[in-house]
Amino acid sequence: MTLEEAGAEHARLAAEIRRNDELYYTRDAPVLSDADYDALRKRLLSIEAAYPELATPDSPSQKVGAAPSAGFSKIRHALPMLSLNNAFDDQDVQDFIDRVRRFLGLSADAAVDILAEPKIDGLSCSVRYEKGKLVLAATRGDGQEGEDVTANVRTIADIPNALKGEGWPDVLEVRGEVYMTKPDFLKLNEAQDAAGKARYANPRNSAAGSLRQLDPDITRSRRLRFFAWGWGEAAAVPADRQSGMMARIASWGFQVNPELKVCDSVETALEAYRRIGEIRASLTYDIDGVVYKVDRLDWQERLGMVSRAPRWAVAHKFAAEQAQTTVQKIDIQVGRTGALTPVAKLEPVTVGGVVVQNATLHNEDEIRRKDIREGDTVIIQRAGDVIPQVVAVVPEKRPKGAEAYVFPTTCPVCGSHAEREEGEVVRRCTGGLICEAQRVERLRHFVSRDAFDIEGLGEKQIAAFWRDGRIQSPADIFRLAETEKTSLKRLDVTEGWGKTSVANLFAAIDARRTIGLDRFLYALGIRHIGQENARILARHYLSIDALLEAVSAAQDPESEAWRDLLNVDGIGPKVAQALLDFFGEALNLQVVHDLLEEIRVSDFDPPRTDSPIAGKTLVFTGTLEKMTRDEAKARAQAMGAKVAGSVSKKTDLVIAGPGAGSKLAQAQALGVAVIDEDGWIEMAGL
Ligand code: IVH
Repeated sequence: MTLEEAGAEHARLAAEIRRNDELYYTRDAPVLSDADYDALRKRLLSIEAAYPELATPDSPSQKVGAAPSAGFSKIRHALPMLSLNNAFDDQDVQDFIDRVRRFLGLSADAAVDILAEPKIDGLSCSVRYEKGKLVLAATRGDGQEGEDVTANVRTIADIPNALKGEGWPDVLEVRGEVYMTKPDFLKLNEAQDAAGKARYANPRNSAAGSLRQLDPDITRSRRLRFFAWGWGEAAAVPADRQSGMMARIASWGFQVNPELKVCDSVETALEAYRRIGEIRASLTYDIDGVVYKVDRLDWQERLGMVSRAPRWAVAHKFAAEQAQTTVQKIDIQVGRTGALTPVAKLEPVTVGGVVVQNATLHNEDEIRRKDIREGDTVIIQRAGDVIPQVVAVVPEKRPKGAEAYVFPTTCPVCGSHAEREEGEVVRRCTGGLICEAQRVERLRHFVSRDAFDIEGLGEKQIAAFWRDGRIQSPADIFRLAETEKTSLKRLDVTEGWGKTSVANLFAAIDARRTIGLDRFLYALGIRHIGQENARILARHYLSIDALLEAVSAAQDPESEAWRDLLNVDGIGPKVAQALLDFFGEALNLQVVHDLLEEIRVSDFDPPRTDSPIAGKTLVFTGTLEKMTRDEAKARAQAMGAKVAGSVSKKTDLVIAGPGAGSKLAQAQALGVAVIDEDGWIEMAGL
């Protein structure tokens, strides 16, 4: 066996072992017998004995025992790790409480206790305890899957290896924020300077870098800290309030932020926000806002979540930090949908601890409205992860002769005409797939984290592979290992690559040959189809075959398929049309069919398949008295059902409250089953 063959075989085995480790340890669903699993490991070890250079730190052979403890294998969270919606001013907070009241069907002045607490600027981590012992710790990752950082988390003094006190449930995932204090951050950067290493930009980056060290001793030396702010899977929750459960978590040996405060009105919540803002500078750690959470856990449960964020919490961000600098140039970038986005190239300036060199100018109207010109001095601001923005021009500093900016009407990349549709603020290149920028951007999107998420194939690599002709369309990614065999300039002798990294890349690509329908749809980069709409469509059509058939039939506006698409709850005419436009284009269909030769798109897995309404199509009509329509819909979807806006042959069940009119009549005419609200409550197990 040559080293090259050994590398490929090693990568294949390593991927296989990791996959089985995950099935075994985190999903509790092994598919291999112990003997078969052992045979895989034995073969891996024998290859490493012959080629020791393949025993890299991330090889499964480097793990103690077989447990995923040393490297960063992926861990699927038992319950997703959510993110938070943001509020930027007092009105947004008022709106949040109003929405909560409306959803729960409370009166406009009903008391809603809110727990207010600092939003720690670190990185979130979920730490799992079984029978009181720490067994697993994972980063948030994309919310569904994170990295296994157990070995490193064990070195964090704020995180107990065994729960203290009493009354903890047998299974408990404590969630919170790993962070570094400001003094420790300054010390670390001094040490980095002394060692001639790169400085970290801010405490959050250094906490992330320190947690993701392969050597746990390095993590230990970085003195990371942890504040618990919640929990994930729990065999029991011995409290009926968020504040009560946090007190319990503190009693089990965790640090819970001392500034937590239960507030009984929007006014007191906003007071807490201002108070925390006042002490912000004196805290030894960075915070970037205040999180408000509905304190009652039964209400949290009812409120549930929408597109990856809970309805019961919101983050009230502190005002953005500002700075002054000059605009050196205005550049036009072309995105994957052809949108021309103007970007200000700035004289580099530090804002809130980060060096900023670019700021988005949004669109041509925005440039005109703010009258931004090349050479201008501008005020820029940056809030959290948000892309820096230009707030205003400083007119007295405008250089003589600076001319008003003229927005281009042709695409700077392919030269095609750039059009502005009626009612749209964005000007778009009409070049479609002949426009190189659009093709590269689509590929970048295709491999991005929430899409195919191929390890080792990020934006940079895609751009390089595009330039050297290796990857022109998504399917080329999956043919890379094959085309490499006959490539004139081999990748493993290209700068930045070696035999091992190439073998790892191929293994990472192979690991993504099966993908869920929702991710697949999102990855295609169809206009208006972000993650949420991709999930709604996947939930509706369930399989790629059904979807392709439906969108082809729906090209006929008179068809049942078109009406069915429009009837999907949450999909409006704009989104429906974008979907049809995409699949109506021969070039796009070609891309999809090419891809399907290389990969498998797995059917959407509706949640809670044991529920009696999983996979069924429901229509609500009339007034519901015991819960709001929004709550009923959310509950139905969480149980795996689809909710439609009108009754058709495809409807399985109509839930009719008082006052139901034409929809009820239609259901009766079509012989669709009808139940009342009590029947629904019973069915939903409420
Ligand atoms: S609660 C489902 N509380 O902010 C509730 N999050 O922007 C999830 N964070 O992913 C979060 N301090 O990593 C919560 N006191 C706090 C927090 C906090 C920091 C982070 C957390 C979350 C992110 C969302």
